[in-house]
Amino acid sequence: MNKPKRYTITSALPYTNGPIHIGHLAGVYVPADIYARYLRLTGNDVVFIGGSDEHGVPITIKAKNEGVSPQDVVDKYHAIIKQSFEEFGITFDNYSRTSAKIHHETASEFFKTLYDKGEFIEESTEQLYDEKANQFLADRFVTGTCPKCGNEEAYGDQCEKCGTSLNATDLINPKSALTGNVPTLKETKHWFLPLDKHEAFLKEWILEGHKKDWKPNVYGQVKSWIDDGLRPRAVTRDLDWGIPVPVEGGEGKVLYVWFDAPIGYISSTKEWAQREGKDWEPYWKSDDTKLVHFIGKDNIVFHCIIFPAMLKAEGSYILPENVPANEFLNLEGNKLSTSKNWAVWLPEYLKEFPGQQDVLRYTLTASAPETKDNDFTWKDFQARNNNELVAIFGNFINRVVVLTNKYYNGVVPAPNAFSQVDEETLAAVKAYPDVISSSIERYRFREAQQELMNLARLGNKYLADEEPWKVVKLDEARTQTIMYVALQIASALATLSEPFLPFTSAKLKSMLNRTSGDVATSWNEVSIKEVLLPAGHQIAQAELLFSKIEDDTIQFQLDKLEASKKANEAANKTVEPQKDTITFDDFTKLDLRVGTILEAEKMPKAKKLLVLKVDTGIDVRTIVSGIAESFTPEEVVGKQVTVLVNLAPRALRGVESEGMILMTETAEGKLVFVNPDTAGVTNGLQIS
Ligand code: 2FM
Ligand code: ZN
Repeated sequence: MNKPKRYTITSALPYTNGPIHIGHLAGVYVPADIYARYLRLTGNDVVFIGGSDEHGVPITIKAKNEGVSPQDVVDKYHAIIKQSFEEFGITFDNYSRTSAKIHHETASEFFKTLYDKGEFIEESTEQLYDEKANQFLADRFVTGTCPKCGNEEAYGDQCEKCGTSLNATDLINPKSALTGNVPTLKETKHWFLPLDKHEAFLKEWILEGHKKDWKPNVYGQVKSWIDDGLRPRAVTRDLDWGIPVPVEGGEGKVLYVWFDAPIGYISSTKEWAQREGKDWEPYWKSDDTKLVHFIGKDNIVFHCIIFPAMLKAEGSYILPENVPANEFLNLEGNKLSTSKNWAVWLPEYLKEFPGQQDVLRYTLTASAPETKDNDFTWKDFQARNNNELVAIFGNFINRVVVLTNKYYNGVVPAPNAFSQVDEETLAAVKAYPDVISSSIERYRFREAQQELMNLARLGNKYLADEEPWKVVKLDEARTQTIMYVALQIASALATLSEPFLPFTSAKLKSMLNRTSGDVATSWNEVSIKEVLLPAGHQIAQAELLFSKIEDDTIQFQLDKLEASKKANEAANKTVEPQKDTITFDDFTKLDLRVGTILEAEKMPKAKKLLVLKVDTGIDVRTIVSGIAESFTPEEVVGKQVTVLVNLAPRALRGVESEGMILMTETAEGKLVFVNPDTAGVTNGLQIS
């Protein structure tokens, strides 16, 4: 076992412009929480930091769209996010917010230190400006084509497609996100962090120092940026929402959100230390502290290049030991999207699946996008729950606890002679802590959780092979030994599952009554102690750890997503521009009548056409209508419809069509009849 160490673990501060969804959880918070819980369990000194990122353009845009102030937006979502993290069991030691006084002070001070040290370039340059909105356009206020990959939706500070970090003036064909206008250029003064000045240090520190221990996806991205050459980056903005630039000439300007947000990790640590009566500095300034940033891949440049350059320029801080960034999680094959409501929202999940936090934690870890983008599907969620958590883990524990209560009134029996299988099984259990540790310490959480599940499989198989429910009728002594061995496995599972399935682990510990008696409870003891749950120890009654998820529960979730898709399609449907004006006389030339479809049949060899016989009140005539992809002939017979009767006849596939039936199209592309309000209306009536 490693010597205990001091760890500062940070998780990306989410923007407070919406709730947390499964993409955030899988990419950042679940792995970070597994890591923090594991490190605490193994006796390390850990501070796990979180908080809300409350500045920046996404928040201003949300406020504008909702007609409220940015402060209203952040107050609302900070509360929602904080509470949902708590309920989901994310064990931040402190969850702060960047609007907090301590953060404003810390970030201002940090800026001033760099300013005083001459670490910035102060320069007036031409920046994009929206004449209509009277505003400079930076970051998400402007979109355009990425000069690197051609993505037409790149933002003014970053292309989310290829990850490149950009200056707004790099964008090709920039467009204001506020008004849609093409921006002009206007001169303004800003402070730039000369990243080029830090290139040599970044090369040495990352490219030479972390080639082996950083994930290939992270290392590869960083290398490509450094190889492309680093340029000065503006760290101030002409905005009114953010931390005021605290130096002369900074009036009306704020710190760039990506300058202040990572400093939020430091201010959140300070807030925690003040509350706990500790000193924050060793957690950020001592060489024997390991600093680890958990982030998604779109944050790599900020955590691996810009923030380290800031820390280095300041001079008194340590640098991250690792930045185990994840790739993206998709949902049912499509990119997660807050604006398109294509997401599984944490607050909704918590409401709809009460007490089932661990099922989501388990599924997200099992399909974590550790090395490449991955997909969350509700069917997979159901299968992981039913086939793994219920059928393996839950089944094993339930059998052990129920049988112990049934045979021994819940008292752990004394073992008799161990068979070879027993010896091998107990030895195998002892190997698990190290196996799981090794995966966690290499940030391979999927693999680590698979190993945990293998331990549950081992238990399940042991019971299935040894069949105590049969042996009990023949050999009392052997049954005791089997149950004793199974109980040791159950106790190991209670300990080792804690980082992954914390709610389950707590329930299991209480079932095994692990708070009392001479019980081995720490991670390391699973490896070194001969006895985890001693003979004579009293356990409690069984409760179900997991329950089966039925098809209709999954269908409900799929229907919700389908509804989002439809609503989106409807919202995106563009309304055709109005046609040229016509005179009243032009209008009166149209002879529109109420008619009824009497007969309908498919036009041979024409996918779209139905041949209809329509009673127009004037006559019964043939009309060929392009509605066959939306209606079967049977569906339209008897329908009362609106008919343009004086349209010049024309032949369609050899059939003369004498008129037109008025239709429109729904957002989903389905044709519908334009019906008059037909009650009491007879064929032939004119529409005017
Ligand atoms: O991408 C985001 O959601 C950012 N709010 C992450 C910030 S991480 C840190 F630097 F604060
Ligand atoms: Zn790009």
